[in-house]
Amino acid sequence: MRPFDGRRVLVGVSGGIAAYKTAELVRRLIGAGADVKVILTDSGARFVGPVTFEGLTGNPVHRSLWEGALQHIELGRWADAIIVAPATANLLAKLANGMADDLLSTTLLAAPRRALLAPAMNHRMYEHPATRRNLEALREFGHQIVGPAYGELAEREEGWGRMVEPDVLLAHVGRDLEGSSRWRGKRVVVTAGPTWEPVDAVRFLGNRSSGRMGQALAAAAWRRGADVVLIRGPAREPAPPWLSDVRQVKTAQEMGDELTEAVREAAALFMAAAVADFRPVAPSAEKIRRSSGMESIAVESCPDLLALASHAAPADCVRVAFAVELGRGALESAKRKLSEKGADLIVLNDPSEPGAAFDVETNRVTIIDSKGASEELPLMLKSEVADAILDRSEGLLAGE
Ligand code: CTP
Repeated sequence: MRPFDGRRVLVGVSGGIAAYKTAELVRRLIGAGADVKVILTDSGARFVGPVTFEGLTGNPVHRSLWEGALQHIELGRWADAIIVAPATANLLAKLANGMADDLLSTTLLAAPRRALLAPAMNHRMYEHPATRRNLEALREFGHQIVGPAYGELAEREEGWGRMVEPDVLLAHVGRDLEGSSRWRGKRVVVTAGPTWEPVDAVRFLGNRSSGRMGQALAAAAWRRGADVVLIRGPAREPAPPWLSDVRQVKTAQEMGDELTEAVREAAALFMAAAVADFRPVAPSAEKIRRSSGMESIAVESCPDLLALASHAAPADCVRVAFAVELGRGALESAKRKLSEKGADLIVLNDPSEPGAAFDVETNRVTIIDSKGASEELPLMLKSEVADAILDRSEGLLAGE
């Protein structure tokens, strides 16, 4: 799985209760195709034994400076990415002061690349000025600090100090492995999921979009370094928790309001949301009773959000539309939509095809450009479809 396939990730584990979550991180890295080596400190080994990491990685666990005279240099050189999880207050203090008294601290000092550090400690230790100063120094040295999160800590305390969850750490390793890309620092706006148009206090008009495709795009653009704004309708699929700018909306109107603000400085817009075309003219604030005798719901057109966003976005913003078309004539209809909507690309999918339905992990799409050239992609995971769409859009980005 991009960008992990065949890449080498060095995981440092220092002594904290959160080390049990690092086993899950390692499992996920291996599952994504990475080759993983683990350095376990003596205190780390008190929480999770080396056999666990050996079993997960299929590689021997590195424990001591004295197992091989040059290990501390070789391991750092070997790695395409380095993550320390959990990074204790002690480990951070050593690293901030250039101390090298065990295999992990020595490797980190000798490594040609900077590390991702996932702090985990009691909240008073985290808030202590010494730790604050150390973290500041480590940032200055070029290390990336991931977390900590707020929540339950050891000894029933609560506060900032929890190690962030393995899926978030995995995403950060992915972003690190991705390296430089044309998306780095560019604002990318993605809409995802359905919209719900209220009929009354308890009913709405909606659709079956799960939000997966849009959210996979948001995650992939973030991984490539983009500054992502995700605007999501009430999607079943949870938003990627590592995205910092997620705007939750319900109706097409609300989505449009967020969108027009968010696209103002956007380099690219991906309209993956299944926005309603119609909404009830006069939604009732109460629950409509059966006894009301209602026989029909009067509807009106929703605004075309892509058109609205196109006016608000910079002229060189890359606009990618999505078309849901069923059966014969799909390609022609998608091409017509592309030109009517003034998009640069349109991604066509037919949910009646096997593996391409709304609520599955996979999709089969055809990407059509503004010259009418179309490229039919095979059945792929939605995360892979997202990368294919980003690859095609990248060439259309302004500048450089
Ligand atoms: N779209 C939009 N605003 C709407 C409806 C759709 O911006 N009110 C966007 C979708 O996000 C998608 C594209 O337009 O990127 C095409 O959506 P689709 O529902 O396939 O097309 P429609 O414009 O609704 O046309 P039709 O009803 O004829 O299929």
